[in-house]
Amino acid sequence: MPVSTRHTLTQYLIDQRRRFPSASGDLNGLILDVAIACKTIAREVASGALAELPAAGEVNVQGEAQKPLDVASNEVFLRQTEWSGHLAGMASEEMDAPYQIPAGYPRGKYLLVFDPLDGSSNIDVNVSVGSIFSILRAPDDVVASGRDVTEADFLQPGHTQVAAGYAIYGPSTMLVLTVGNGVAGFTLDPNIGEFRLTHPDMRVRPDTQEFAINSSNSRFWEPPVKRYVDECLAGRSGPRGKDFNMRWIASMVAEAHRILMRGGVFLYPRDNKDPSKPGRLRLLYEANPIAFLMEQAGGLCSTGRQPMLGIQPRELHQRIGVVFGSRNEVERIQRYHTDPASRELPEPLFAERGLFRD
Ligand code: AHG
Ligand code: MN
Ligand code: MN
Repeated sequence: MPVSTRHTLTQYLIDQRRRFPSASGDLNGLILDVAIACKTIAREVASGALAELPAAGEVNVQGEAQKPLDVASNEVFLRQTEWSGHLAGMASEEMDAPYQIPAGYPRGKYLLVFDPLDGSSNIDVNVSVGSIFSILRAPDDVVASGRDVTEADFLQPGHTQVAAGYAIYGPSTMLVLTVGNGVAGFTLDPNIGEFRLTHPDMRVRPDTQEFAINSSNSRFWEPPVKRYVDECLAGRSGPRGKDFNMRWIASMVAEAHRILMRGGVFLYPRDNKDPSKPGRLRLLYEANPIAFLMEQAGGLCSTGRQPMLGIQPRELHQRIGVVFGSRNEVERIQRYHTDPASRELPEPLFAERGLFRD
């Protein structure tokens, strides 16, 4: 196999840091530790049924059964990042409350928020899963005092993220990252165990003919979503005048990756399924990091009604409607939600033919 001379993740981060001569290097150190956590999880995922994991976990704060790999991946993130002095605290899908940096380790200026294993229902069926992470600055008083972190310290709108990314554990393992200067994709070189820069400037195409939504929820959708999907399904003879293709992987990370590679739009919208859950996905460690990546790649991410990155979080584990991907489709869906004229149901012709109408 030819030896690759592509830049490593370390080289990329050093290049990026040169834009800020006074930067301490803490952010780079933190991202490199997250990358090691992802490599560790990649090995566990690749071991499949051979992985020796403890019995299944408990039910997490979301009321979802934790898989052994959810719990193990969470531990990997904690152990790989808590010691370094870069972090003031962490929060994860798998932990009810914020995680305090243990006594004996220095505390730093960043907060790390993560979904250690996204799409974990796909583990048992050997379909791609991933990890998602977001890095925020800790509030000044946390950094100055070194006090324990509280839920409120994490409730920052997505536009304040310093860095965000995901790892995808598929046929190859990739890390996709933004530090606020575009989106870069790295492929794990298994020969040397390093991430190499294979996708230096990932861009989301503005237009697409591919959408992703869990249509088993169609009876719970709000009218703008029904209208959008019906119009896609109507294809060439409908108001869009073109045929659409559909995908649903049930690993958001894999859908985000597909959209970064070839365009598309993903919807897990707010619906009427369970009034206590305004959406399925979580704002702080699923929607916001993906939104930062999408915007940095020229795509968009919206709640359906407004840009995701402007949302002021109210709770650590808050759920929210999510629409992201190709700019012109996300804008169209947002228009259907906000433009009163668009709120009306589609023309009767398409209403009759729509597969997902009540
Ligand atoms: P997680 O495994 O972290 O709980 O997240 C799974 C999420 C997301 O990745 C995916 O898009 C969605 O749940 C799938 O939901 P459905 O089972 O409703 O399709
Ligand atoms: Mn998830
Ligand atoms: Mn998860």
